[in-house]
Amino acid sequence: MADRIIIFDTTLRDGEQSPGASMNKAEKLRLARQLEKLKVDVIEAGFPITSQGDFEAVSLISKEVRGLTVAALARAEKVDIDRAWEAIKDAANPRIHIVIATSDLHLKYKLRKTRREVLEVIQRAVSHAHRYTTNIEFSTEDGSRTDPDYLARAAQTAIKAGATTINIPDTVGYALPEEFGELVRTVREKVSADDRVVWSVHCHNDLGLAVANSLSAVHHGARQVEVTVNGIGERAGNTSLEELVMALHTRRDLMPYSTKIEKKQIYSTSRLVSRITGLVIPANKAVVGANAFSHESGIHQDGVLKKRATYEILTPRDIGLDKSILVLGKHSGRHAFQERLKELGYVLSPEDMQKVFDRFKELADKKKEVVNEDIEALIADEILMIPDTYKLIYLSVISGNMAVPTATVKIEVNGEIIQKAGFGVGPIDATFNTINKIIQTCTKACKLVSFSVNAITGGMDAQGQVNVRVERDGKIVLGKGSDSDIITASAKAYLNALNRLEYLKKNPIKKL
Ligand code: KIV
Ligand code: ZN
Repeated sequence: MADRIIIFDTTLRDGEQSPGASMNKAEKLRLARQLEKLKVDVIEAGFPITSQGDFEAVSLISKEVRGLTVAALARAEKVDIDRAWEAIKDAANPRIHIVIATSDLHLKYKLRKTRREVLEVIQRAVSHAHRYTTNIEFSTEDGSRTDPDYLARAAQTAIKAGATTINIPDTVGYALPEEFGELVRTVREKVSADDRVVWSVHCHNDLGLAVANSLSAVHHGARQVEVTVNGIGERAGNTSLEELVMALHTRRDLMPYSTKIEKKQIYSTSRLVSRITGLVIPANKAVVGANAFSHESGIHQDGVLKKRATYEILTPRDIGLDKSILVLGKHSGRHAFQERLKELGYVLSPEDMQKVFDRFKELADKKKEVVNEDIEALIADEILMIPDTYKLIYLSVISGNMAVPTATVKIEVNGEIIQKAGFGVGPIDATFNTINKIIQTCTKACKLVSFSVNAITGGMDAQGQVNVRVERDGKIVLGKGSDSDIITASAKAYLNALNRLEYLKKNPIKKL
């Protein structure tokens, strides 16, 4: 049995299903490039039938990111499969990923089909995909709650029709490790073409067991694991890439399997995903959390100073945590800056390059040291934005312990400049109220669901990154903004959210 584990990253698809974590086309491409640097084997770039935006993002990634397999998700329906293929057909190595539920619960209440009917659908769908490619993955949704005999029949049907990877999902995160591993082994034993297919698992983290279940599946013969960076994904998320990879690496004494992952890219990938999605990494998150390598107790500190291995099983260096400290300053020239962008995976047009370089120079004047995280934030602000229906032109805020917080805001709305002033209980409230006055559709309809400020890097002169979640008509979107002034960052974040709402109005996502 091969000892190489294929890492299938679905941050761009299942990860994007985290509430409020939607990404635009440019952000998806940026992340796909980083996943290529991380050396994942497969990326699931999206679910093309769900929206025109997703279709375009998958198609763009397929053309631009050549060093890995690009998968697109499709339900077991001809229209979905055709659309998926259309999006990935230019990829260096395209894969169609077909999914249909197989548990009796889903058959009865969701699909309203019999077991026999579902087998027919599988046969038709996989055969249809086989006209396009031989690289076909078939997923048995709610696999962990499916009768193992039927699961094996579904897998066998898909293999006979041309599937080369069979994925067993624990869709609702219900399984326990030993039980799930046993299920993988049982199904493999029941399927006669076992040696011709790659067995894969896709675990959700509802009970906090996604990584444990995936490891157990590997122990019982799975050779592809589906993961997301930082474990983001539907509800409680998916198997975390960094935890799975570092567990395999650290305990290779008991689990002698390798991955192709470039571990030194783990930290920067994790930060990038957090910045793009606005999903903050908890300080105690395994492997990439801020506290993952800090020792608080005196006994631990003493032990680590005497011998690291006493309390440390991983080092920051293992995941590339020391790398982003390479500093640029106000004397750094265009060439050094351009080189750094290249290293970070950005290929910018000369106009975009100029915009970002100007912003870098402005920032370097205010801040002594500009690190990778700062540059990523500048690019997120300047380049990765969705089209600006509303653009901040001017902001002035008066606040203090004796003043009524007052904001004067000038915004360009579809080419027209509008200026207004307003009050609030604090400077940010005054800014948001004034923006709402200008964008009148928001006065009643928009609700600020959450607001958070984080320092992008350490130090008193750090840039502030503001994330807001805004709700309108039942849709929640994330808005992001960064600036060395946090009120300006807040205004940018709020406008970014409103721009996303406008974008979604014009490019609706079909709910499946
Ligand atoms: O959780 C799930 O079952 C899925 C499938 C599409 C693999 O995401
Ligand atoms: Zn899933």
